[in-house]
Amino acid sequence: MKKIVPMLEESAEYIRKRLGGRKAEIALVLGSGLGEFANRAESRIEIPYGEIPHFPVSTVKGHCGKLIYGMISSVPVLMMSGRFHFYEGYSMEEVSYPIRTFGMMGIRKLFLSNAAGCVNKDWKVGDLMLLKDHIKLVMDSPSREIDEEEIGPRFFDMTNTYPEKLRELAKKIAGKNGHTLREGVYMFFSGPNFETPSEINAARILGADAVGMSTVPEAIAASQMKMDVLALSLLTNMAAGIAKEPLSHREVLETGERAKDMFSSLLEGIIPVWAGL
Ligand code: HPA
Repeated sequence: MKKIVPMLEESAEYIRKRLGGRKAEIALVLGSGLGEFANRAESRIEIPYGEIPHFPVSTVKGHCGKLIYGMISSVPVLMMSGRFHFYEGYSMEEVSYPIRTFGMMGIRKLFLSNAAGCVNKDWKVGDLMLLKDHIKLVMDSPSREIDEEEIGPRFFDMTNTYPEKLRELAKKIAGKNGHTLREGVYMFFSGPNFETPSEINAARILGADAVGMSTVPEAIAASQMKMDVLALSLLTNMAAGIAKEPLSHREVLETGERAKDMFSSLLEGIIPVWAGL
């Protein structure tokens, strides 16, 4: 069995020092095309991942690879601008390493966002979807090989990974803003290839509304540490076989650009209420 707690403690301690002891209420992971949200934070402190002991380093275009601490709607938050993906060659454990570091720092609230392909034919590109649950058939887990008390139980329940009360809060804010907010099931695919049309059909039959290449490993790690997760997908494209055109990473980033105001106002509304829960 691998021991990661001493490493996590070093990473957490380094971040704590860099923040001069300032505490964050909520950790946020900003997905593809959504990283710009971090610029809205006031009194920012930035820490490139490369400077944090034991952190992996992000390589994907459109992800800038740093932790950004700052105030959003007067709430101190710690944001990941750029995340680690399984398809980049990182293990599931590496992908979720930052989340465990946040857990080690005492952060109990985690917001995850991602770009996802839309499987639900009744919805459209540019819609936002709350995750009410997920499906992962990829046979690996961030918790494989890890059995340390500080991380959580070896076998842990995932029934309420995305608590209903947080989803209700998000829906209320979206309603106030006059925005439609979908709610559905996200299915994890390892990527980096997009799925085949038959895989998308299979995903739909299994109950998925969206597909993507992130979020689930992080949500599993958070769940083991008993963190509350609110997760949001921006549906950047119709999944393979639904639209006529081939999928492209450019389309993913362009949809992110168009949706960023809606995404930002939703998040700025949710954060102060969530911080008070
Ligand atoms: N599939 C998987 N991941 C994605 C997609 C998709 O269609 N769009 C954005 N991320």
